[in-house]
Amino acid sequence: MPSINRILNGLAVTALTLLQVASAAPAQAHNKSGGKPTTTAVATVALSAAPGLVVPGAGDSTAIPLPTSSLVVVAVGRGTQNYSCSAVGATAVAVGAMATLFDATAMASNPTALIDFVKAAVMLPAPRGLRTIGQHFFLADGTPFFELTAGVAKGKSAQVAKIGDLAAPTTAGKGPNGSSAVDWLFLTSKASPYVSVGVSAVYRVETAGGSPATCTAVGLQTVQYAAEYWFYA
Ligand SMILES: *[C@@H]1O[C@H](CO)[C@@H](O)[C@H](O)[C@H]1NC(C)=O
Ligand SMILES: *[C@@H]1O[C@H](CO)[C@@H](O)[C@H](O)[C@H]1NC(C)=O
Ligand SMILES: *[C@@H]1O[C@H](CO)[C@@H](O)[C@H](O)[C@H]1NC(C)=O
Repeated sequence: MPSINRILNGLAVTALTLLQVASAAPAQAHNKSGGKPTTTAVATVALSAAPGLVVPGAGDSTAIPLPTSSLVVVAVGRGTQNYSCSAVGATAVAVGAMATLFDATAMASNPTALIDFVKAAVMLPAPRGLRTIGQHFFLADGTPFFELTAGVAKGKSAQVAKIGDLAAPTTAGKGPNGSSAVDWLFLTSKASPYVSVGVSAVYRVETAGGSPATCTAVGLQTVQYAAEYWFYA
């Protein structure tokens, strides 16, 4: 069943197309002296300039519910999902993750372009052309943590718990070693004593890579991944 979000997203695409033409510098400009390509940060775009933006998949499944508050920022996360292997042939156990967050708000109204960007980003050490706006890692007790340190959401953060979990679609991007995409997640900020600032919910969607391979050695396994993270107030 087509959701209202898809329709809203469709409308938003029109807004973005104009926006991109008006403000987005080419993500990558070639150095005329023949050196390595240089990167130019894409201009930060106010969310008010792209009304109707809603996280992909919201409301299509109870696992990924519709957001109930306003959008704070859209990020691309690029890093590793970490697993522990107790023995050769054992099932890898998730032990955390580490990723850098990049500002993707300016691309978010064009869902297809953003998905393609994520699929490409997982193959690169870092996505090209987007400004770094924060980090994602796990606290010592295993709580996922997001820290936004630059851009429109500077100073905001979230210590979250997983509420909803949905298998990625079969069309999702694979990682550099052919790993399949990690699940889409709905995360909400944990109650005190955990601290979140200006963020009550985080969605991880449009994932690429990150799923573990069968354990071939004992110890830590890091699997490259990329994903869209949508932060709500
Ligand atoms: C262009 O490439 C040259 C040669 O690698 C380098 O010296 C120069 O700093 C680069 N310029 C820019 C703007 O990146
Ligand atoms: C996950 O792996 C990264 C390397 O990509 C490492 O820096 C980080 O400390 C690891 N985190 C956990 C919780 O294992
Ligand atoms: C891919 O596989 C190679 C060889 O097994 C390994 O060295 C490398 O760390 C893997 N890379 C990723 C991104 O998982």
